[in-house]
Amino acid sequence: MGGARFMTGMLLLFMALSSGVRSCPPSDRAALLAFRAALHEPYLGIFNSWTGADCCHNWYGVSCDQETHRVADITLRGESEEPIFERAHRTGYMTGYISPAICKLPRLSSIIIADWKGISGEIPRCITTLPFLRIVDFIGNRISGSIPADIGRLQRLTVLNFADNQISGTIPASLANLTSLMHLDLRNNLLSGPIPRNFGSLRMLSRALLSGNRLSGPIPGSVSLIYRLADLDLSRNQLSGLIPQVLGKMAVLSTLNLDFNKLSGPIPLSLFSSGISDLNLSRNALQGNIPDAFGPRSYFTALDLSYNNLKGAIPKSISSASYIGHLDLSHNHLCGKIPLGSPFDHLEASSFVYNDCLCGKPLKPC
Ligand SMILES: *[C@@H]1O[C@H](CO)[C@@H](O)[C@H](O)[C@H]1NC(C)=O
Ligand SMILES: *[C@@H]1O[C@H](CO)[C@@H](O)[C@H](O)[C@H]1NC(C)=O
Repeated sequence: MGGARFMTGMLLLFMALSSGVRSCPPSDRAALLAFRAALHEPYLGIFNSWTGADCCHNWYGVSCDQETHRVADITLRGESEEPIFERAHRTGYMTGYISPAICKLPRLSSIIIADWKGISGEIPRCITTLPFLRIVDFIGNRISGSIPADIGRLQRLTVLNFADNQISGTIPASLANLTSLMHLDLRNNLLSGPIPRNFGSLRMLSRALLSGNRLSGPIPGSVSLIYRLADLDLSRNQLSGLIPQVLGKMAVLSTLNLDFNKLSGPIPLSLFSSGISDLNLSRNALQGNIPDAFGPRSYFTALDLSYNNLKGAIPKSISSASYIGHLDLSHNHLCGKIPLGSPFDHLEASSFVYNDCLCGKPLKPC
């Protein structure tokens, strides 16, 4: 009898202890509540579930590490097909700012606060003190201020996405210290100054998207050291100087968008016989002839060289390209007969108009 009661007592104690361990620590709960207090979400009620002692269970967008039972992920997306959005028949909208209280979540591994359109304020400086951060994604808000200068401290960071905000200042030199970074998206902000010269230290990077800013200066040649880089988008900036010839030697680069900059000089030969299949050099100040360097390795879903100062004839070798889906050579100073061949059969006049004296199909006969 006494033994059974003892066992029951032990069991209850064990259950109390284990549920106590599984519940989130009061300090994590307090940090989340302070984070919530700085935000205003009027339409969906995403924070209605943030009640009770255990922030690890059923708090919308919060999840905890199984081992440590500390808050590990905050995932709040304003565009989603989850029931809460379906019911409201609308996308999310939220105002307020991202509170530095998140820095009191020492085991935070990912923070995604995306597409809420109205969140303003600055990126909390203190996020660089969170050693376990792997993913930071604040896309689609109205965040201003600059990128923390010591962002390079986040040694585990694999995804950094600040796209579609109003972030200004320069790209910190320390960014190049993020040696685990795989995905960098800073598109459509107000960033100015140069791309750090040591950008090529980001050895794990596969996508570097910096378009739609006010970046100036040259494209650092060190970019070519990023062996895994597949997608480089530097379009709609104020970059100047030459296109580094080494970009055409990169192992897996398939998308290169440099359109709407102030790049000058010739188009490097290497770009046409590389693995690049989506190449946009439109709206620069590129000069000289189109390199006579097409071959069976040339495979383009899109090749846009429009609005430059290219002259001379379209090289005959372009007929030996294995595929050109979309071609735009308009608004240059090209002259002469348009080559014949399979890559051209489907192209329309708009690919060739506004040049000095191009002729032949699909334009008028020479
Ligand atoms: C990058 O990291 C190295 C080594 O940790 C450090 O010495 C250097 O100051 C860092 N660079 C920047 C610009 O923060
Ligand atoms: C290339 O860039 C220009 C200028 O930014 C843009 O208008 C055009 O649509 C782009 N071309 C392709 C094929 O995407």
